[in-house]
Amino acid sequence: MLNAALARFPRLPLVPAPTPLDRLERLSQQLGRGVYVKRDDITPFALGGNKVRKLEFLAAEALAQGADTLVTAGAIQSNHVRQTAALAARLGLACVALLENPIGSTDRNYLENGNRLLLDLFGAEVELVASLDNADDLLAAAGERLRGAGKRPYLVPIGGSNALGALGYVRAGLELAEQIKASGERFAAVVLASGSAGTHAGLALALEHALPGTRVVGVTVSRPAATQRPKVEGLLQRTADLLGVEVPKALKVELWDQYFAPRYGEPSAATLEAMRLLASHEGLLLDPVYTGKAFAGLLDGIAKGAFEGDGPVLFLHTGGSPALFAYHPAGIA
Ligand SMILES: Cc1ncc(COP(=O)(O)O)c(C=O)c1O
Repeated sequence: MLNAALARFPRLPLVPAPTPLDRLERLSQQLGRGVYVKRDDITPFALGGNKVRKLEFLAAEALAQGADTLVTAGAIQSNHVRQTAALAARLGLACVALLENPIGSTDRNYLENGNRLLLDLFGAEVELVASLDNADDLLAAAGERLRGAGKRPYLVPIGGSNALGALGYVRAGLELAEQIKASGERFAAVVLASGSAGTHAGLALALEHALPGTRVVGVTVSRPAATQRPKVEGLLQRTADLLGVEVPKALKVELWDQYFAPRYGEPSAATLEAMRLLASHEGLLLDPVYTGKAFAGLLDGIAKGAFEGDGPVLFLHTGGSPALFAYHPAGIA
């Protein structure tokens, strides 16, 4: 049913095949608990990551509207902005990026390297702003300015997280449901980073439809559960409305908010430890802003017995490794 509903929406096929679902053998052995990873960090576009899936739907709408410029916003080290700028380049569109420095960093790596360096390569026009607390207003104002200059802007919200963008993770959730069925495993939970919430909302909606009862744990990366919950639940409802389906009554949004401290964009000791563990046991890269925090939550959940039964735990790897080059090496290695 979701498949048919999704098929009504135009999509640019940037992720043509399912991303792999891999068992992490050495780590599973070390932890005494099976851990699998869905590799959305290697979506085949501009160093990968989750945003490409949202942009498949958003950019299709931009093209249908005859846009000539993608306008978006994020942190200086935003993976979302990097992938939007890359897609604009691929499509022959201009890209305007409003960037904030959410941690007030003066480190040259943060200001110039990593994702920020890639924005210049993709030819994006960057505008620094003091804060993105009112991002929608700033995006709207940038759109007005561009229209006044004769351009045809298309506004991509922060993180690509509106209902249309979340369809990317409805599609990914259906893809994952097929992989779970084919694996023959009974997973205890799917764990992912929950930020602007489109990934969480889309995935949870699809899994509850396709594999009812699948536990989805969103590890918050920027705010407490009390403020993240309305974001996820609101977007879930808007995404279901867009598709013309129900949010299943049994769908409970589960959030873990003990792992985002000290704050968005700043890793804790546990974040760094999770990054080291995965790198040193599996040759797999997490990032200091999103996946390192989410994986720290997964590890702590295993240690605390927070995953019922003895089935393996599935981690949705949403990418972010370009940001590794933006953080001071002493903080990571
Ligand atoms: C690497 C990475 N993981 C996870 C997320 C969180 O996804 P969402 O914003 O859809 O909650 C982001 C968002 O920017 C990201 O860049």
